[in-house]
Amino acid sequence: MHYGQQCFEGLKAYRSQDGSINLFRPDQNAARMQMSCERLLMPAPSTEMFIEACRQVVKANEHFLPPFGTGGSLYLRPFVIGVGDNIGVRTAPEFIFSVFCVPVGPYFKGGLTPHNFIVSEFDRAAPNGTGAAKVGGNYAASLLPGAQAKDAQAQGRHFADAIYLDPATHTKIEEVGAANLFAITKDGRTFVTPKSPSILPSITKYSLLHIAEHRLGLNVEEGDVYISRLDQYGEAGACGTAAVITPIGGIQHGDQFHVFHSETETGPVTRRLYDELTGIQFGTVEAPEGWIVKV
Ligand SMILES: Cc1ncc(COP(=O)(O)O)c(C=O)c1O
Repeated sequence: MHYGQQCFEGLKAYRSQDGSINLFRPDQNAARMQMSCERLLMPAPSTEMFIEACRQVVKANEHFLPPFGTGGSLYLRPFVIGVGDNIGVRTAPEFIFSVFCVPVGPYFKGGLTPHNFIVSEFDRAAPNGTGAAKVGGNYAASLLPGAQAKDAQAQGRHFADAIYLDPATHTKIEEVGAANLFAITKDGRTFVTPKSPSILPSITKYSLLHIAEHRLGLNVEEGDVYISRLDQYGEAGACGTAAVITPIGGIQHGDQFHVFHSETETGPVTRRLYDELTGIQFGTVEAPEGWIVKV
């Protein structure tokens, strides 16, 4: 606990229309946990062990899984922690891998309704630090900026969370709270998402890159999203397992407030991405091969 040797994952089980239960790309969560463990010198569960543990936890808690049509799901939280009586700064002598779960609705209130965000002056990760690993220390560091964002008010506006800029230059957007960012160019043709070694590689984001390109026929680009050039984009959203897709109404940066599509309405491309993604997760839209694992 003292040296923060801990990492975790987050994924959901979804009840489909025929009553069966879907896990969404759990192999990707297993791979990311293996990467996080490697970064913190911890042994990692194999992909098979990880998926089997998730399956068993869902089966044992099936009665907590919200019914199809409610939009609810069962959030799974696999984690690895180091345990032992060492006081010296070194790896723990033993490790626990465990999975727990909790039924959830959407992370931001109101489902697919736009939220405003505010740029933080804090960094969540360092250029060669642990930003790409899902480790507790990153989240400990984000609690203060997150609380400040939720307390902030500018011209009567409230904010759902903090936006983090790249730690080296503070000119490019990295993350939106505990979610990745995407933006759609004003002509509606290109899906853009930041590329940086200090961003958590979001499984939802990589899924949306695929959906945008292969299902919506958009150009896709992983690149720089400059905070001073937001006027290129007609829509923007936060994406992640918990956030699903949360449309971004506007971003406050210093005394500037930039509105994308609207502060109250969801843009058309964002809505199509949302319908396709959630359709795949709940089993009403055909999934790309290997994306759905039945419990
Ligand atoms: C910091 C951060 N970024 C992005 C994400 C989104 O990742 P994913 O789509 O894999 O849930 C999460 C949530 O898991 C996160 O905590």
